[in-house]
Amino acid sequence: MTSPRGEVPHSEDAQDLRDLAILQLVRTAYESPEVVSRYASVGLWPSEESLILDYFPDEARILDLGCGAGRTTVGLAEIGLPAFGIDISELMIDVAREQARQLGVEELTEFAVMDTRRLEGIQDEGFDGALYSYNGLELVPGIAGKRRVLSEVYRVLRPGGRLIFCTHSLLALNRYAPMRMRAFVRFLLGQCGLPVRERELGERFIDDELEEARYLQILPPGSWRRMLRAAGFRILYCNTRTRIEQRQPPRAWSVFADGERFFVAEKTGELAEPADSL
Ligand SMILES: C[S@@+](CC[C@H](N)C(=O)[O-])C[C@H]1O[C@@H](n2cnc3c(N)ncnc32)[C@H](O)[C@@H]1O
Repeated sequence: MTSPRGEVPHSEDAQDLRDLAILQLVRTAYESPEVVSRYASVGLWPSEESLILDYFPDEARILDLGCGAGRTTVGLAEIGLPAFGIDISELMIDVAREQARQLGVEELTEFAVMDTRRLEGIQDEGFDGALYSYNGLELVPGIAGKRRVLSEVYRVLRPGGRLIFCTHSLLALNRYAPMRMRAFVRFLLGQCGLPVRERELGERFIDDELEEARYLQILPPGSWRRMLRAAGFRILYCNTRTRIEQRQPPRAWSVFADGERFFVAEKTGELAEPADSL
């Protein structure tokens, strides 16, 4: 890969270029009117509502990361929590604003087009809670990008503030396991020097035009635990969406379960390591 000036870039520049290309791939998919229209409905999942009521205080101000067309931002406002929704897709944000207006929660919501890796203009300790719903963190390029998001969320949460998010599990025994296995083999081939796109564990590029997510990085739940702790968070709770909805306690074997699993993490107030030093 060469830079616009024809020089061979430093490995850091090459990483930045790769991340930028992935971000562009993701953004293009979520700017398609057809994909946006699939997200044009509002309302929290029962699992989300239950965690929000349990872990966010009354009247908490919430940062809604990767808010899409406002499903959760409007949902938060409907239960009385002021929410600031951000997303990289301009079209998603336009639809989110319109939905908030139509549903009469304009006063409790704000929206901006923003990359969750760079919460520019958001002041330190400005939020009581943060939500990253519907596995959105898996769309952020690479482990370094995900660490940067956690470090930025840590910065903008007040001490004791909470982050709720959900992800898939790399170890899930479901119908996607063969696809994940093929991506894992490509990742291993890449480790042996073959030119493949999957450079990190859990990465998968999807070329099927019908699929909305063209890039995903699905990690084992243990990786999220380590990243959260390294960013300075304390993990308060982790359980699958299904078990939360059935009011069942977490189980160790849930790492193999299908579907989403939620993490609730709290900012400890101790200084987190800067993302770049990890
Ligand atoms: C799976 S959709 C979920 C949307 C919404 N949270 C919901 O549950 O309906 C993921 C969203 O994340 C957004 N997104 C992806 N990467 C992002 C990034 N780096 N920064 C901000 N938003 C991002 C996409 O544009 C998309 O709207």
